[in-house]
Amino acid sequence: MSWIREGELNLIEKFSASILKAGPMPKHIAFIMDGNRRFARKKNMECLQGHMQGFNKLAETLRWCKHLNIQEVTVYAFSIENFKRTQDEVDGLMELAKQKFVRLLEEQENLEKHGVCIRVLGDLNMLPLDLQQLIAKAVGMTKSHNKCFLNVCFAYTARYEITNAVREMAWGVEQGLIKASDVSEALLSECLYSNNSPNPDLLIRTSGEVRLSDFLLWQTSHSCIVFQSVLWPEYSFWNLCDAILQYQLNHKSIQSARDLHREHQVLQQLESDRACIAEYLQHQGNGKPVDAQRSQEALQHYTACREERIQDFLQALKQKRDSYFNDLWRETISS
Ligand code: FPP
Ligand code: MG
Repeated sequence: MSWIREGELNLIEKFSASILKAGPMPKHIAFIMDGNRRFARKKNMECLQGHMQGFNKLAETLRWCKHLNIQEVTVYAFSIENFKRTQDEVDGLMELAKQKFVRLLEEQENLEKHGVCIRVLGDLNMLPLDLQQLIAKAVGMTKSHNKCFLNVCFAYTARYEITNAVREMAWGVEQGLIKASDVSEALLSECLYSNNSPNPDLLIRTSGEVRLSDFLLWQTSHSCIVFQSVLWPEYSFWNLCDAILQYQLNHKSIQSARDLHREHQVLQQLESDRACIAEYLQHQGNGKPVDAQRSQEALQHYTACREERIQDFLQALKQKRDSYFNDLWRETISS
């Protein structure tokens, strides 16, 4: 089964989509695709069959999203916690992922035609080497595509991602690239695996479980969260429309919470910069009062220097991450 499903919506789906599209649409949807094993049990199938049906449903959902002009989708495909499942199931899921990434590599032309960029978020070192290599190839092959984005969270949990981001910043301080005082919410966001994406507007969890299970905890603080009782392999176009409708009904309050947070972040940064400058100038002038213009100039200089440091640090971080993919890529070619 391919990742890209061709095919139009039927008439009634098209009509409903056009009504939905008259309202505010989410640009980025995240899915916790839960309920594969319960679906398999219900249908007297092997557990892995349930995961395969889960993958097929993902391909179908991506087709609906394309018709609804949703440019970005993030899915929880394998959590770090999932390594604790039986060896048979873990091996089965790794095998399924390998098959699907091999398939994806065969679909180069189609991915290019639709401009699909695939990213894999998580600690790939935890995965078998051959899967890491396939992922590196798929990510490399689609990295310049920019019409739509699929982020597959694999060997991922949000707490691990946040801890890793903190470690990256500590590395930056250790290397002298940034100062400890440069650490901020905004910088941490840039160090997450998801740094290339806007935060999801809508997060959907299927199967009736009402928890986030360590998924995108940082990124969804102002997202609309919808829990649906349907098992993931049974997810339908109408379930998706229902979730989007809930997003639309809550759109105003979500938007104003986001705006408020953004304003608060800017003010907080300004206050902390002013406090740093005031302390510095007081120290320089042996406690004498400092005139407003001098203080404004110093503030501008301080923020420009910080911005330069941060850009250099982010560039170094990007190089570190790219070199991981490039090394895997080289290993694949030489083997
Ligand atoms: C949760 O259902 C689902 C998973 C842990 C795996 C999801 C994986 C896929 C849909 C395949 C995706 C593959 C690629 C390559 C993107 P569950 O196993 O927790 O089911 P349950 O809640 O009924 O026990
Ligand atoms: Mg589950």
